[in-house]
Amino acid sequence: MCMVLLTDPLHIKGFVLRNRLVFPPILTNLAAFDGSVTEALIEHYVRRAAYVGLVVVEASYVSETGKYVERQLGVHSDDMISGLKRLVEGVHEMGACVVLQIVHAGSKSTLQNITPLAPSSDGRSKELSKEEIKAIIDEFSKAAERASLAGFDGVEIHGAHGFLVNQFFSPLTNKRLDEYGGSLENRMRFSLEVVEAVKHKVGNKLLLYRIGADDLTPGGSTVEDAKILAKKLEENGVDIIDVSGGVCGSRPVQFEGVEGYFIPYAREIKKVVSVPVIGVGGIRSFEYANSVLEEGYVDLIAVGRQLLKDPLWAKRALDSVNRAKKI
Ligand SMILES: Cc1cc2nc3c(=O)[nH]c(=O)nc-3n(C[C@H](O)[C@H](O)[C@H](O)COP(=O)(O)O)c2cc1C
Repeated sequence: MCMVLLTDPLHIKGFVLRNRLVFPPILTNLAAFDGSVTEALIEHYVRRAAYVGLVVVEASYVSETGKYVERQLGVHSDDMISGLKRLVEGVHEMGACVVLQIVHAGSKSTLQNITPLAPSSDGRSKELSKEEIKAIIDEFSKAAERASLAGFDGVEIHGAHGFLVNQFFSPLTNKRLDEYGGSLENRMRFSLEVVEAVKHKVGNKLLLYRIGADDLTPGGSTVEDAKILAKKLEENGVDIIDVSGGVCGSRPVQFEGVEGYFIPYAREIKKVVSVPVIGVGGIRSFEYANSVLEEGYVDLIAVGRQLLKDPLWAKRALDSVNRAKKI
């Protein structure tokens, strides 16, 4: 097996990610109140795009009822396209590929003026009818189309952290008795229908899926379930699988201070798929980032909070690998 380094490019579907570093989706609250792109948001991404291979722009809502928080970036209307275009141009000028993460918050919406929608009601949220499920799948598809029109190199479906797609997958949040609930096959149905609808709009661009690998909660979904979903995602046309947490979220407290906390889950998932896998979770050191690639545990490494704090971390990480190559 050929050893991969942080500095190695990844060729995929005609795209070239210039190295293995990914800036993962991180909400900034820098969008305008109507969800549109601001200059501050563009500047934020341009600074983080200077050295990485891929930028995944933060979770952007596919419809008003799927909005999570105020000042979230939106891809819910055609009016958003021109601003998103400027964001894409800014990132491309820095040499990185860029995809947009698309999300429906489901029961996690924090907005006061809407009744959240969910696979099953939790008191505050309303259970989705089958017609409403179809309508949301259509919203995902339209959002992907807008992202494509804005020039993104693809989209990432947010299937993790207890948002709507993940709510269907997890037995903790999905108590439905119809074909969308119960068995693992039924709980995967919504994810796969979203993938199918989005895939047609993404066309020859990149389709990423952020998977909730484990709920880390008794009675929740486990990495064994996620492995089955990951294989289905690959069969159904997903190009890259980005591995994070399920309803436990992206930064479970028990992992505080642990470097690479979701890497073991990504490694498990990589064993059952042949598409590239992104690993993430508390990565702070160049040595660690490079070692998990060298070991072949994952294909790409996402570094979030470290790059938020210090955008030049990426340059130093790549320089350190280049220096080591010369020795
Ligand atoms: C403030 C904040 C906002 C985040 N927003 C998103 C998001 O929009 N979508 C998503 O999938 N993950 C989101 N995440 C999770 C990150 O993408 C990442 O998985 C997590 O921070 C762990 O990686 P890190 O330790 O390198 O930061 C967010 C994390 C933070 C800290």
